[in-house]
Amino acid sequence: MNLRFTEEQQMMRKMVRDFAEKEIAPFVEEMEDGKFPREIVRKMGELGLMGIPVPEEYGGSEMDFTSYIIAIHELSKVSATVGVILSVHTSVGTNPILYFGTEEQKQKYVPKLASGEYLGAFCLTEPGAGSDAASLKTKAEWKDGHYVLNGSKVFITNGGEADTYIVFARTSPDGGSKGISAFIVEKGTPGLVIGKDEHKMGLHGSRTVQLTFEDMKVPKENLLGAEGEGFKIAMANLDAGRIGIAAQALGIAEAALKAAAAYAKERQQFGKPIALQQGVGFKLADMATAVEASKLLVYQAANLRQEGLKCGKEASMAKLFASRTAVETAIEAVQVFGGYGYTKEYPVERYFRDAKVTEIYEGTSEIQRIVISKFL
Ligand code: CAA
Repeated sequence: MNLRFTEEQQMMRKMVRDFAEKEIAPFVEEMEDGKFPREIVRKMGELGLMGIPVPEEYGGSEMDFTSYIIAIHELSKVSATVGVILSVHTSVGTNPILYFGTEEQKQKYVPKLASGEYLGAFCLTEPGAGSDAASLKTKAEWKDGHYVLNGSKVFITNGGEADTYIVFARTSPDGGSKGISAFIVEKGTPGLVIGKDEHKMGLHGSRTVQLTFEDMKVPKENLLGAEGEGFKIAMANLDAGRIGIAAQALGIAEAALKAAAAYAKERQQFGKPIALQQGVGFKLADMATAVEASKLLVYQAANLRQEGLKCGKEASMAKLFASRTAVETAIEAVQVFGGYGYTKEYPVERYFRDAKVTEIYEGTSEIQRIVISKFL
C-alpha cells in the first residue's frame, strides 16, 4: 500500500485546510451556540466539496475516495460538526442514489446533491430499532398507485435542513431484513413531519431531529433499488460511511493532541514546561502513537474502498479504533490542560464532547465488534 498522498490528494488537503482555517474556524463559536452552518455548506458546494467522489457526469468533482476522506479528516480538525454534515450528506445521503438509483433518479437528484444545492440525510434508526436496524417498524404500503409511509425515525443527522431523505421502511410485514425497502423522500412531502431537535452533548451546529411519517405518499419512481433490497442498500453504504466517521474521529483526536502538545510546551510548573515532566511527556507519546495508528487504519480502509475492494471489516476496525482514540485523546488533552481544560476558554472540552458520539453513530463500537468478529 502506498502510504503517501498523490499530488492531487495533497492539493485537496491544502485546499480544505485553508478553507477550514479561514472560513470555518471563525464560525465555530456560533455553531457551538446551535447555529447550523448553512453558509459554510453553500461555500463547500462552490468548492466542489459536497460531491467529491461523485462522477463529473452527475455534477461531482470525480475525485478518489481517499480525497473525500482527507476532506472529512481536515474539516473535523477544525469542526467535527462540519465533518459529520459532509460525511452523512455524501456517504449515506448521496451515494445510495448514485449506486442503487435508476438513471432517472441519478439525473434528478445527484447533481443537486453534489453541488450542495441539496443536502442529504439518511433515515434508518427508529425509537425501537437502533443497533438492531433490521427490526425497524416504519411501514410502506402500496395503495392507489403510491407507497404510503407511516412510522417514526430518530437521531436523523441533517434532518430539518436536508432536501432529500433516504428512508428505510418495511414493505413486507415478515421477512426481517428482507422485507425492508429504501425510498427517496423530498423535503416538503405532505406527511413528512420534522419533530423535536435533540439537544446533544456535542456537535452543536449539526441538527439531529426526530421525524414522523403520517400517511406520507411516495411515488413509485422514488423507490430506491428493488423492493426488499433496502437493508442491503443501508449496510453497503454504511461500510463506506463508517470510514467517514472514522476520519471525523481522527480529525478530533489530532486536534486534541495538537492543542495538548502546544499547551504542554508553554505551561510551566516546577520550573520547567510540563511537556518535560515525564507524566505529561509519556501521555503525549501515547496519544501521538494512537493517532498515528488510527491514521493508518483510516487510510487503509479508504484505499481498499477506492480500489473497489471489500472494506467492511477494515472500515469497522478503523471506526472502532479511531473513535476510541478520539475519546481517549480528548480526555487526556483535558487532563494536560488541567483546570483550564475544563473551561470553555480552550477547545479541548469541545473535542471531548464531540468525540463521544463517534463511538455511537453509524454503528456503536459494540456493533463494529460484531461486524469484525463475523469476518474472523
Ligand atoms: N453489505 C451488503 N450487505 C450486507 C452487509 C454489507 N455490509 N451486511 C449485511 N448485509 C446483508 C447480509 O448479507 C444479509 O443478506 P442475506 O441474508 O441475503 O445474506 C442481510 O444483509 C442481513 O445481514 P445480517 O443477518 O448480518 O443482519 P443483522 O440483522 O444481523 O444485522 C448488523 C447486522 C451489522 C448488526 C446491522 O444491523 C448493523 O449494522 N447495525 C447497526 C446499525 C447502524 O449502523 N445504524 C447507523 C444509523 S445511520 C447513522 O448513524 C448516521 C448518522 O446520523 C451519523
